[in-house]
Amino acid sequence: MSDPTKAPNRAPTRLKVAVLISGRGSNMEALIDACAQRDFPAEIVTVVSNRPDAKGLDRAREAGLSTQVINHKNFTDRKSFEGALQAHLEASGARLICLAGFMRLLTGQFVEKWRDRMINIHPSLLPAFKGLHTHERVLEAGTRFHGCTVHFVRPEMDDGPIIAQACVPVMPKDDPDSLGARVLAQEHRIYPLALRLVAEGRVTVRSGRALIDSHPPDTALLNPPISA
Ligand code: GAR
Repeated sequence: MSDPTKAPNRAPTRLKVAVLISGRGSNMEALIDACAQRDFPAEIVTVVSNRPDAKGLDRAREAGLSTQVINHKNFTDRKSFEGALQAHLEASGARLICLAGFMRLLTGQFVEKWRDRMINIHPSLLPAFKGLHTHERVLEAGTRFHGCTVHFVRPEMDDGPIIAQACVPVMPKDDPDSLGARVLAQEHRIYPLALRLVAEGRVTVRSGRALIDSHPPDTALLNPPISA
């Protein structure tokens, strides 16, 4: 039998991930930080932006990552844009796409090509509040909780099997900025968590739902709390 202490110090295989951004890239940063941990089961092989001025590109370069701008404005239609995107992704060796504030709608054809291999983060507790301006709409609706969701991408916008969610209370004095900041802090926690679960092969999609081998908390959150 071979002596394990003499085994070459090989890094375990890590899932190769492409991160797609359009702007600030704070969720991308959370993924970069997670992937920098020694035992994290994923690595970022490319960061792609459809906007040349995306702030996140600087941070990705600072982290020494390979970046690529595929400016949608240089293409006559979605299909040719996605053709260039697909070619780059294939060349990068990516096996999973993480949409991190990528604000370009993708065609059903592209989405199906990456079925169960493309995940997205959205600033609401899906399926509630799909689309834009979620914090404003939550405040208008008067819900007591808000949050964020990481889900597999499906052709319908902000739709697909849910992998992870975080829930935050809506406070009486909240405005869209304060509420958005509270949600964003949780986005930065659940995106790395969801990526880790997917990369570890612990998420299975069955009948439109993502099944995870973990135990959910069994306590309820009340807002206002029972002591109010
Ligand atoms: C995040 O709040 C993300 O959830 C949202 O855009 C923001 C990007 O911020 N995405 C969507 O609304 C997608 N439907 P970031 O660039 O700092 O990660």
